[in-house]
Amino acid sequence: MAELLAVKGGKPVMAPGTVKPWPPIDDTDRKMVLDSLEGENSHAFGPNCIAFQEEFAAWNGNRHAITTNSGTAALHMGLVGCGCGRGDEVIVPAYSWSSSATCVMQHNCIPVFVDIEFDSMNIAVDKIEAAITPKTKAIIVVHLHGLAADMDRIMAIAAKHGVKVVEDACQAHGAKYKGKKVGTLGHCGAFSFNQNKCLCAGEGGMFVTDDVEILERAKSLWSFGEATSPTETRDYHVYAMGWMYRNNDLTAAWGRAQLKKLDRHLAIQKQNAARLTESIKGVPGLILPTAPAGYEHNWYNYTIRFDMEALGHAHDRRAFRDKIIGAIRAEGLDTGIWQSFILPAMTVFQAKNAYGHRCPWSCAHAESVDYSVDRFPVATKHLETHTGMTYPLRAPNGPEVAELAAKAIGKVMANLDQLEGDY
Ligand SMILES: Cc1ncc(COP(=O)(O)O)c(C=O)c1O
Repeated sequence: MAELLAVKGGKPVMAPGTVKPWPPIDDTDRKMVLDSLEGENSHAFGPNCIAFQEEFAAWNGNRHAITTNSGTAALHMGLVGCGCGRGDEVIVPAYSWSSSATCVMQHNCIPVFVDIEFDSMNIAVDKIEAAITPKTKAIIVVHLHGLAADMDRIMAIAAKHGVKVVEDACQAHGAKYKGKKVGTLGHCGAFSFNQNKCLCAGEGGMFVTDDVEILERAKSLWSFGEATSPTETRDYHVYAMGWMYRNNDLTAAWGRAQLKKLDRHLAIQKQNAARLTESIKGVPGLILPTAPAGYEHNWYNYTIRFDMEALGHAHDRRAFRDKIIGAIRAEGLDTGIWQSFILPAMTVFQAKNAYGHRCPWSCAHAESVDYSVDRFPVATKHLETHTGMTYPLRAPNGPEVAELAAKAIGKVMANLDQLEGDY
């Protein structure tokens, strides 16, 4: 029986306040943050930072970890760790967070975009080799939305061409590939602890590697270009071009508290995602996210694509997608658009101007690269047909919220005729 959609004046499926906020806070968070606050002379790069590095490295299975003030900082360090510099080309998927690509320009390198695969939403491994040139120095692999990229194939390509691999694991804490955690599969990796991430410390990040040479190079830009960490004896001498990428003690204290609960939070997220999939898998017009055999998704972002061909909206897929999302949101489910632009379409790349004077693309050391948007049809299709959700499937929300989410989506998809035409 047809139900009146909330966007048309019907009763919403989910009442306000149904979805509890992220992240859940308890006495462990309060105590660890307060202890840091009350510590003496230790609020900058303090004891919690050191402990956070050790505990995160142990949790993820890395030999070395350096905590940073963002995932972007950790990515930039990875790039430098891999020896990238002036005019080197770095391969990046055409669909990701902006700084997966802008970190490349931060070291005077040139991003070269590769389209994504529709099913995994990750870099199209088949298209990587065609993008490799004599200038290629590294590949930034993004484990998008918590699903690992096909690392065996990527590492084989990297080895064949002598290039390094930086894992952008900013969304992928705890995701596994063939039993191994992301961040242990490439030459080095970057995690984010920003508000929306599976480990939230407000902001913050972690650079990880098993390779001492990569570690030392990455570290060279982390603390002003000094050679030692602030907890060691410092000579305050700048040996290399440096940034200020260090984490601080309060943030690290909260990160440590959240790390203690991370496995539990990830298990809840996984259960909720499975429940949602189970409840909407038969709904026509939806393309649901999957994790192939051998992959353990962390379900950072549960991303659905609408099958616009089947829905008769291939011609206006973006506009109709926006109508569907509006209707689902009106039912009380916070689902959204993760990105509104594929990376090459963003102004900084189209204008090829990062530092002014069209630098670094105009520099004598740079080869020309083509950022025509029509070279990335899969990323564009994904962009225009997707919606994603995070908090509704996160702890402390349980399967009852996943069920309501399924109901909201199912109700809208069963009544799409109400969205036809202008309203
Ligand atoms: C895939 C990806 N890479 C990099 C980042 C950057 O992380 P941060 O915001 O901590 O700099 C984010 C998130 O913001 C991200 O989602």
